[in-house]
Amino acid sequence: MRDAPAPRLHLLVCANRREGSPLGPGCGDRGGAVYDALKREVAVRGRIATTWITKTSCLGICPERGATVARWPVNAGSPSSPIVTEVVPADIAQLLAEPSETREPPNAHEASPAEPSAADLARELDALEELQRKKVLDLARRLKPGLTLEDVQNPHDFPELDDPDWHYADGVLAGIQSVKSTLSAMMRSRPRSEED
Ligand code: FES
Repeated sequence: MRDAPAPRLHLLVCANRREGSPLGPGCGDRGGAVYDALKREVAVRGRIATTWITKTSCLGICPERGATVARWPVNAGSPSSPIVTEVVPADIAQLLAEPSETREPPNAHEASPAEPSAADLARELDALEELQRKKVLDLARRLKPGLTLEDVQNPHDFPELDDPDWHYADGVLAGIQSVKSTLSAMMRSRPRSEED
């Protein structure tokens, strides 16, 4: 493995098609339209070398309208999430906003930032867990409207949740929660002086 040149902005556009899925037909043609519009606009702006547009399979959000797009690095402005969904061709100007001039691709040779503390990691994990829990619930409600968080903790009571994508999302959530528990146990077992 070795570092490779990285773009200033990379957008990954889902154009996945689902056949007969309870989650709907996937981003499909809508994703294709967003992808084509982005490719055209990048060429017009002369940014082919620095802004990469890649068509992908399912990104795990599966919107009912528009398409899902992942991007890095995350823009400083709005929207600020690395994943945006319900994207339509009219949104491409916002998606193509240049990242802050001070931000560099991850492999740039720059001074290493300070190591994150355990408390920083715990906060990041809390945010990740919240995001993933919402995703699990959203997917569950696409499969069976009206389900609650408590319901999805007992998936065997709901045959509609016997869906591979939902199980995958739920497994990711369980993984995040497991890392959180491990980190929490490590923080509790550390000598007080190390936490300060
Ligand atoms: S089909 Fe596009 S995110 Fe799942």
